[in-house]
Amino acid sequence: MSDQRPIGIFDSGVGGLTVVSEVWKYLPAENIVYFGDTARVPYGTKSKETVTKFSVENVEFLMTHDVKLVLVACNTASSLSLEFLKRCFRVPMIGVIGPGAREAVSATRSGRIGVIGTNATISSGAYEAAVKRIDKKLKVYTASCPLFVPLAEEGWVDKKVAQDIAGIYLKPLRTKKVDTLILGCTHYPLLKNVIEKVMGPKVSLIDSAMEVAKEAKELLDASGALNKSQALGGHKFFSSDEPARFIKIGEHFLKRRIDCAKRKD
Ligand code: DGL
Repeated sequence: MSDQRPIGIFDSGVGGLTVVSEVWKYLPAENIVYFGDTARVPYGTKSKETVTKFSVENVEFLMTHDVKLVLVACNTASSLSLEFLKRCFRVPMIGVIGPGAREAVSATRSGRIGVIGTNATISSGAYEAAVKRIDKKLKVYTASCPLFVPLAEEGWVDKKVAQDIAGIYLKPLRTKKVDTLILGCTHYPLLKNVIEKVMGPKVSLIDSAMEVAKEAKELLDASGALNKSQALGGHKFFSSDEPARFIKIGEHFLKRRIDCAKRKD
């Protein structure tokens, strides 16, 4: 059996394209519909009520494309709204928190895990709770790094300013001697080099985008919903604001050309 329906992926903007990029690696035959809520980004500074209202609308939009699975690529939406979304919709849904936390728990040797994310993700305590649900004894230390988002969008990922900002944000986590660090925001995989330089080579960086793609593959396989076609999947990109900027910035995140993106009406 082969299920050709697309996987729906949404994010507050372009950042979730890091998840699309990983889904391409693990599930190349799958069709994808991506929605970036560029008109209302950022979510990382907004309240739970607002992010949840936006997230419900985003899933409703993806449902109009008959998606077989929804990936909540946005860490902020996953932290604040995933449980509510799962109660509202019958389509299977995976957020980034669970997969990232599970991978961090299996990677840590010292039992000291760091988490970085937006203000909303960090103050929700979602990663901390997910790690503790697996093993209460683990120590979790967190830091919000809001300036990483504009740095990634500007493409300033190798500049000295990125290194300096990372040095300030990550100092408390270095002091706590974490051996594993969860990159708890869609944008942070772009800053991996700088984060690695600051944290040192012994700290494992956990990329939630990669983990969610692996989990999507497992879920589709287990439920007999993989697209078994030999051809590469098709992709549709939508944004809520004007697509030109989405395409320009999105290509950095995707590391590929985006031929077409449409505005969601
Ligand atoms: N996509 C958001 C996240 O992963 C980052 C950008 C925003 O604040 O909306 O948390």
